[in-house]
Amino acid sequence: MAARGEFSSRMAFVLAASGSAIGLGNIWGFPIKVASNGGGAFVFTYVVLTFLLAYPILMAELIIGRHAKSDTVTSLVKISGSSTKPLAFLTGYWGILTASLILSFYAIVAGWMIAFGLGSAAELLGMNEFKEWLTSFSLYRNLIFVSLFYILTIGIVANGVASGIEKWSTRLMPMLIVLILALIAYISTQNGAAEGWRVYLQPDFSRILNPDLLISALGQAFFSLSLGVGTMMVYGSYISKSENLPKLGATVALMDIGIAFMAGLLVIPAMYVAQANGVTIYNEAGALIDSDGLIFTVLPALFKTMGFAGIIVSLLFFTLMTIAAVTSSISMLEVPVSHAQESHGMSRKSASWAVGTAILATSIIIVFNFGTLFGLVIDLTTKYSEPLIGILFCIFAGWVWQRDSMLKELEQGSPDMQNTLFWKIWPTYVKVVCPVIVLAVFMHSFGLLNF
Ligand code: PFF
Repeated sequence: MAARGEFSSRMAFVLAASGSAIGLGNIWGFPIKVASNGGGAFVFTYVVLTFLLAYPILMAELIIGRHAKSDTVTSLVKISGSSTKPLAFLTGYWGILTASLILSFYAIVAGWMIAFGLGSAAELLGMNEFKEWLTSFSLYRNLIFVSLFYILTIGIVANGVASGIEKWSTRLMPMLIVLILALIAYISTQNGAAEGWRVYLQPDFSRILNPDLLISALGQAFFSLSLGVGTMMVYGSYISKSENLPKLGATVALMDIGIAFMAGLLVIPAMYVAQANGVTIYNEAGALIDSDGLIFTVLPALFKTMGFAGIIVSLLFFTLMTIAAVTSSISMLEVPVSHAQESHGMSRKSASWAVGTAILATSIIIVFNFGTLFGLVIDLTTKYSEPLIGILFCIFAGWVWQRDSMLKELEQGSPDMQNTLFWKIWPTYVKVVCPVIVLAVFMHSFGLLNF
């Protein structure tokens, strides 16, 4: 078997894992959910659930991954006894399937980002009709740009951990942060922004236990940190044994929440600015008119208020969003590819192209049946699969894996682990509290439990 790759430094891992976590989920998905679920109440619940659930489960994935140093299926099998092996296979393959399905819808949205970026370039060159085509929803546009996005993703994953994944993740994230901050500063000068911030920052606490809001926030917390599919387990398997895992995990979680929060500070006021400028965002019943297209409506409307500079800002924004999407999509594709490579003896190149093409075929099916399949695949994977697999990961970390062996793994990179607060709380917490909370939210959303 070929030698396994490893991240070359702590910084490289933090950037790659944050690159996986930070993506369309933060800047496209999070604001849509905030806007559909009553603003601040959603933000509050999402942040609480991230600390309460997502961080501990992220740690479970990273620790199992670094211990086993294999693809997800093999990693789970390695920490299992003979009676739990079938569950390990089931969980591993369910994760692979979910990662692939997530990629199949994610790539479609990422394709829109490329199209909007090119749209700004076309506008700069005065090609207005072409710009119109690029920025309008159509079958051909979607097919062309989703395929282009796959070529990017597959090309990078085919090159392996250090040269492919790492190189891309370490570069452009800081630029995205600076651009969002600059846009937040700009939007504060616009009419309507203050109302947006009020809605975003003032939680209506009577709504936080609403079952739809809770299940949506739970899904978002998992999706945003790339949990419950094995991505973080695979990335964990590339971390060197000398690193302090709880600290690395906390850094990634904080960066992810920080960017989502910033994206909300931009997009929610942008909605209200657009409304003040006559764009219709909500229908009479108070629901978003086009939730998938929210940021593709309100941000271009904002850029328009900037005149010529807005075209450049738009070009930059959609280019950076494309890159943020790529650093996430490569981490999704890495889950099936590492399995095909390590457990089925395929070369990285052929595994990347074979698996990538199969998932592209799924995206094409979704594009042809957009109205029925797009939302369905998103709900099935992010609202249900990810949290349920998350519980299974907790069961592996808390019940299946031997505690001594887990402690030894954690002690590598932090020798006094036994005396830390993390070790005093976390093992029991993932074992009992995390599964109970996830199950309670599920039962609540199905009306089986009221609180
Ligand atoms: N965390 C990514 C985002 O917020 O855009 C999405 C994601 C990446 C989900 C990788 C799942 C995954 F395995």
